[in-house]
Amino acid sequence: MSADFIIEVNSVSKNFGGVVAVNECSLKVERGSITGLIGPNGAGKTTLFNMVAGTTTPSSGNIIFDGEDVTGFDPHILFDRGMLRTFQIAHEFSQMSAMENLMMVPGDQPGEHLLDVWLRPSLVRSRELEVRQKANDVIDFLKLSHIKDELAGNLSGGQKKLLELGRTMMVDAKLVLLDEVAAGVNRTLLKDLAHNIERMNKELGYTFFVIEHDMDLIARLCDPVIVMAQGQVIAQGPMEEIRKNPEIIEAYFGTPVEA
Ligand SMILES: Nc1ncnc2c1ncn2[C@@H]1O[C@H](COP(=O)(O)OP(=O)(O)O)[C@@H](O)[C@H]1O
Ligand SMILES: [Mg+2]
Repeated sequence: MSADFIIEVNSVSKNFGGVVAVNECSLKVERGSITGLIGPNGAGKTTLFNMVAGTTTPSSGNIIFDGEDVTGFDPHILFDRGMLRTFQIAHEFSQMSAMENLMMVPGDQPGEHLLDVWLRPSLVRSRELEVRQKANDVIDFLKLSHIKDELAGNLSGGQKKLLELGRTMMVDAKLVLLDEVAAGVNRTLLKDLAHNIERMNKELGYTFFVIEHDMDLIARLCDPVIVMAQGQVIAQGPMEEIRKNPEIIEAYFGTPVEA
């Protein structure tokens, strides 16, 4: 049996007025994996992610998500198809509780249509109960019961990250994209975060595609790891092999690396 890929990036390029950020890049993310994406600053990782997530349109090539060509699709269409990306809790949501932040996520709630509130109040009520139940399940899964009524703005950096992860659990995600989720999180909460990503993967079957600078986190979580440099994939494999690969050491240390 050949492997089952949730994402296939086929010879994709992105050109920003002369700057080639991604250069005929091809890679695949296997369903059920936690796949890492690493590479020196400016390698094209974020641009590649943006193209997968629909926030940037490729200059050429195509992107297949769950068997469908989604090249150039809008992020909200991809969201409906089950591709989610974590975002920082927006300023306006910081004045809402952790629980309310979770309950905001699912699209298409009948209560959002004013007419429904008047014409079908029981439907709106039962849908709200369903969403509340789901939010409670997510809170339990992530062991966040103690902060469920806390305003999101008052949570620590790590707790906010857990809540962001929790938001991806409010809808049935097939793929979760994480871009530098460890940035600004202390070691203890980082372990918590990594542990929950592993649990979501193993117990709930989520596939993750992860950009990360923290090599320890990558080593712990990701298999395989894909390495990009200068807009292309230069290596792929388990982290133990990647660490030993001279071409990769060259890519990281042969050129000046910023942060
Ligand atoms: N919007 C943009 N306009 C022009 N150049 C960009 C833009 N976004 C990224 N680039 C350039 O593309 C290259 C890859 O950037 P990026 O995808 O952010 O790399 P990484 O995430 O691996 O650090 C860099 O040279 C960067 O300066
Ligand atoms: Mg980046």
